[in-house]
Formats: sequence, C-alpha cells, structure tokens
Amino acid sequence: MSATQPDTITIFDTTLRDGEQSPGCSMNSAEKLEIAKSLVELGVDVIEAGFPIASPDDFEAVRTIAREFGNRTVICGLARCRKEDIDRAWEALKEAEKCRIHVFLATSPIHREFKLKMAEDQILKSTVEMVKYTRDLMCSRSDITTPNLEFSPEDAARTELDFLCQVVEKAIDAGATTVNIPDTVGYATPLHFKHCIEYLKANVSNINKAVISTHCHNDLGLAVANSLAGVEAGARQVECTINGLGERAGNAALEEIVMAIRTRGDFYGVKTNINTPKLFPISRLVSRITGMTVQRNKAIVGQNAFAHEAGIHQHGMLQNRATYEIMKPDDVGYVGSNLVLGKHSGRHAFRDRVKSLGFELETAVFEKVFQEFITLCDKKKDVYDSDIIALIESHIGEKSDVTDRWKLISVQTFAGANAIPTATVELQCEGDPQPKRDAATGDGPLDAIFLAMKRITGVAGTLRNFQVRSVTGGEDAQGESFVEILVNDKAYHGKGISTDIIQASAEAYLKALNRAMSDKQPTKRVLAQHD
Ligand code: KIV
Ligand code: ZN
Repeated sequence: MSATQPDTITIFDTTLRDGEQSPGCSMNSAEKLEIAKSLVELGVDVIEAGFPIASPDDFEAVRTIAREFGNRTVICGLARCRKEDIDRAWEALKEAEKCRIHVFLATSPIHREFKLKMAEDQILKSTVEMVKYTRDLMCSRSDITTPNLEFSPEDAARTELDFLCQVVEKAIDAGATTVNIPDTVGYATPLHFKHCIEYLKANVSNINKAVISTHCHNDLGLAVANSLAGVEAGARQVECTINGLGERAGNAALEEIVMAIRTRGDFYGVKTNINTPKLFPISRLVSRITGMTVQRNKAIVGQNAFAHEAGIHQHGMLQNRATYEIMKPDDVGYVGSNLVLGKHSGRHAFRDRVKSLGFELETAVFEKVFQEFITLCDKKKDVYDSDIIALIESHIGEKSDVTDRWKLISVQTFAGANAIPTATVELQCEGDPQPKRDAATGDGPLDAIFLAMKRITGVAGTLRNFQVRSVTGGEDAQGESFVEILVNDKAYHGKGISTDIIQASAEAYLKALNRAMSDKQPTKRVLAQHD
C-alpha cells in the first residue's frame, strides 16, 4: 500500500483499463508499458493495468507491468465476480510486490433485472463469496496478511441507497479494503453523488475500515465535478484517466482532478502525490499512443490552456500574472510556443533543449532527431519547442512493438480545380528489396493516395476520422495528420508529421495500415459482463 495519509487522495489511474475501452484506443503491450512507466514517474498511487481475463494480450500486459513496476506502485487488475476472472487476475499480478485485485458486480435494479438476472440476495451472496475467495487467494502469498482488495458495486449511482449500503458493508466484512462507488453511466450530479457518499459514511457500520473511492463517467460532462463532490464528502481515492479517456464520453480527467485539488487546497484541504510538471508530457504521450487528440481548450493540458489572447488580459498579466492565471504553466509542464534554436545552435544546445523538454534519447535516436531538426531549420523560418517535441515523438513510436511492415518511399499527387485528382505511391515491404508502385484517382489527392496504398498492401481500411493540425502557428508550420481507419470493424489510428501535409497524411494512413496488419487480435473484443 502507498504511504497515503488520510489527507492525501489516492490517485487510481485506469487509463490502461477503462481508458483503453474507448473505441479506437486499444494499445499494444509495448505502448501500455511505456504509459505505465510514465504513470509511475507521474506518481500515481495505483495503476489499473488491465482486465486480465479479457484476452491473452491483456493478461500479458498486466503481468509485464506488474513485474516491471510492482515494486514502485500498486498494480491492479480487474475481475468480474467470478472465480475464473479472479484466478486470472491473480496469475497476472502475483509477482508484483504491491498488487491489488479489483472485483466488481453490478447492483442497480436495471442491471440486476436485465443484465445479471439476479435477485438482491444473490448479489449479496456472490459479493461475499468472491471477495472472500479473492482475499484467501491473495493471502496464499506468505508476505500478504491484509490483501489490497477493491470491490465495486457497478452502477452504484443508480442503486437504491439502502441496498448499496448492504452490499458495501458485506464487501468490507468479507475483506475489501477499498470500496469504489462507480457512476458507471455518468448519471449522477455533484449534489446527488456527494449525498450518496455521505449516506454510505453515515449508514455503513464498518465504513471506517475501508477507503471510499469514486469512479465517475462523463456522459453529462460532470465526471470531475462528481468526483470532487465525492472527495468533499470524504472519499479518499479517485479513479481517473489521463485526458479523461474512457468508455463513451470518458472518465474523470486525472489532470483536472489533481490540479483542482492542488489549486483549491484551501477548499478541499487534501493533497495528492502527483508530480504535476509531468502532467503535460503524459497527456501528449497518451494522445500520441491512442490517437485521441486533446481539444485545444481542454482544461490543464489543452494547447490554449495558458494562452491569453485579449489585450486587457495581457496587460494585467504583465503587471502580475495572478490577475488572470490561477496556475503557472510550469506547474503542469506546459510547453508553449517558445522560440528555440536555429541550425547554427549546434548539438550541445539542442541536447540541452531536448533534456529540458523532459526527454532522454538514446544516442541513435538523438542523432536522427538532430538531423531532422537541421532539415526542418532549412524549411522553416522559426523552430519552436512544439516542433522539436513533434519530431521526438515521431521517433518514440518506433520503440513500440508495431513493426512497420510497409515503408513509404515516395508519394506524388496531382490535383486542382477541374482536374482529376491522381496519386502515385511507392512503398517497400519489409524483406522485399523491390518497392511496389501503384497509381490511383480519387475524390481528392488524399483519397487517391489512400486507395493506392490499399491496393499495394492488400488491406482494405475504411477511413473513419481524418484531421490535420498545425504544430505551431505560421505559414511554414509543420502539419500533424491524424488518421483513423476501420479494418474488420476494428479501429486503428496513425499519425504523421511533416511540413508537407500530403506527406504527413500519407505517413499517417500507412501507420494505421501497419497497425492493422500487426494486430494479433484483429477482431473487436466482446466480453459478456456476467454469465
Ligand atoms: O464504470 C464502471 O462501473 C467500471 C467498473 C468496472 C468499476 O468501470
Ligand atoms: Zn468505468
């Protein structure tokens, strides 16, 4: 268990489990490991690394994360209220020094009647049996006397309060050390949720033996507000995700929870163990890996979060930043558009800059990035921090276990008013010295490129989402292209970066095709919630 004091909120991150359940956000094991490493450095208290029974890949990811980081942070695995799930979770977690099993069972009337087809007494019985089963299983390890065990009554926010109290009381009696109160469908409002936690505190006789946790979904845009209302009422764990990733509209955003607690410490009277300058870098990492772009005006980690446009604001800021700024950009590791170096700055200065942006690059990667930086300086008048980060991030991806089967050799397009958009694409397949070339026409030059790529690779991807944004301002800015395709009903994404948006888009599409080709589980994961 972490050395969490009563006035310290345990930050339970579920980016790798609930976050990964967002459509199109599935991650491979190497990517999960990379995020887990950053979560550890961020200082989260618990990492929910996955749902081990869901698939062999999920199991492997949880086991690897448990082995790698289980001595630094509590690693948690999710399980339904079933022996097979709990056994599988334990198998994945048991080598971690600090581990937690998270067992859940729905309790709301609608779930009881239509999903589980279980009566109240059956829910109570199953809760007690499976929590005890988990406790005994974890106690089989000689160093564990009080297992770190979480129980969640799924859809708690729509459960009758008195029944919820009964379930929670029985779960604690059976050995749960954390009782999590999920607002599974994002139905609660802040006062409703606060009342729910207060009711549990007042009516569950053994509530002081467990930590109360919140797990709020964002369907009404209230996930963060509801979680904070829970904290006000006495919850001491908050479940959340980086960038608010998660099922449907997502979960409570970790960065917002943490900065609200920190900025309004005067009101909440609690703190977290989070190393806040790491918030911005991890937000970018998760966005890059999942392909889920962060909206510009997103609180805390959006590009505009610290941008002051209005003259009156700028004037006030010059006198005293606190006139219009409640947090300092440095507090969250915000990287703005600082003008950086030119090509004459040299390797040393560039290395220092890379370091101060929070990256440690292996020599070979550093060399590649440096050469690209020099090339970029020739193409672009001003090179900014954001440009350097974009270059670095395009290489970090190379470490993932997605092997790029196809590489882009060249792309040419022809388009214009009253012209037939045409593209010629040349790709090289891994292990084949002979590049493959094809040309296609389409609705526009990009459509033509995508069609040519589909023909060369033989993978039929349907375009589902396409976005281009400029990394910085200015006419010569680098363009970052994001592509999401559907292959056999499963979503894959890719990103590309270049001062030429046609090339960036071609790279992004090819990246998505490569991901689809290397997917070991090319169909959507469907898991019944219960028997
Ligand atoms: O939203 C939810 O109810 C969940 C549970 C598994 C905790 O994610
Ligand atoms: Zn959830």
